[in-house]
Amino acid sequence: MAVGIFDSGLGGLTVLDAVSKRLPDVPFVYFGDNAHAPYGVRDAQDVYELTTAAVERIWQEGCDLVILACNTASAAALRRMQDSWLPPGKRVLGVFVPLIEALTERLWGDNSPPRQVSVQHVALFATPATVSSRAFQRELAFRAIGVDVEAQACGGVVDAIEEGDMILAEALVRGHVDALRRKMPHPQAAILGCTHYPLLEEIFADALGPEVKVFSQADLVAESLADYLVRRPEMIGPGTRSMFLTTGNPRKVSDRATQFLRRKIDFVPA
Ligand code: DGL
Repeated sequence: MAVGIFDSGLGGLTVLDAVSKRLPDVPFVYFGDNAHAPYGVRDAQDVYELTTAAVERIWQEGCDLVILACNTASAAALRRMQDSWLPPGKRVLGVFVPLIEALTERLWGDNSPPRQVSVQHVALFATPATVSSRAFQRELAFRAIGVDVEAQACGGVVDAIEEGDMILAEALVRGHVDALRRKMPHPQAAILGCTHYPLLEEIFADALGPEVKVFSQADLVAESLADYLVRRPEMIGPGTRSMFLTTGNPRKVSDRATQFLRRKIDFVPA
């Protein structure tokens, strides 16, 4: 009984951490495509090909359900995978919908028509590929009307985190928050639309100030997955072992992962 968690690199560990705490009895197979990160500067075809290859590798470890913890993959590849690629009996879920449901104060799976919601000015921080896909705005439009979204493509942040340069990452985040504020001076809510960004959540919150509510994905995705597995228990695959797969250098990736999660993580070659 295993579930797959996919990310372009280390960022999905924020989701992995939350889902393993929420569902301690479920083994998770984590796949970090570190050799090809960052995805945020790749085109949609490239992201689609890398993501489908990774998900196929995760199926081999006895998973029937894979969470695309990567927003960029959720934005650029998920719809196409669901429409024309998924084999029978397999499912792939993304990370936008739980976040948007929280933002629009909807219950999971509420498919009623879009309606006015309390938040009207939303700042979205994401990778360049996620921003240019407009997938967030599209999913939001299915659920809410009258919400003004200003998106900031946060170039450089993922590379800095993958390289472990948190000082550079912090400086970049502060610059991106300033740039966003020039376009939208008073956001009510901010979405951290990239799995790497919760590693800098305090910096985002500090730069945005106390009046901005920051929505971060990990716990929302964990709650949503727990709810999904209650409704679809058969989607827990036959795999029995938790594992961490990477296309990158396992030693380097394990060191960084251990540093981020503050517990020992051992990646093996994918
Ligand atoms: N962490 C991924 C995301 O959530 C992608 C970052 C990247 O590889 O550029 O968007």
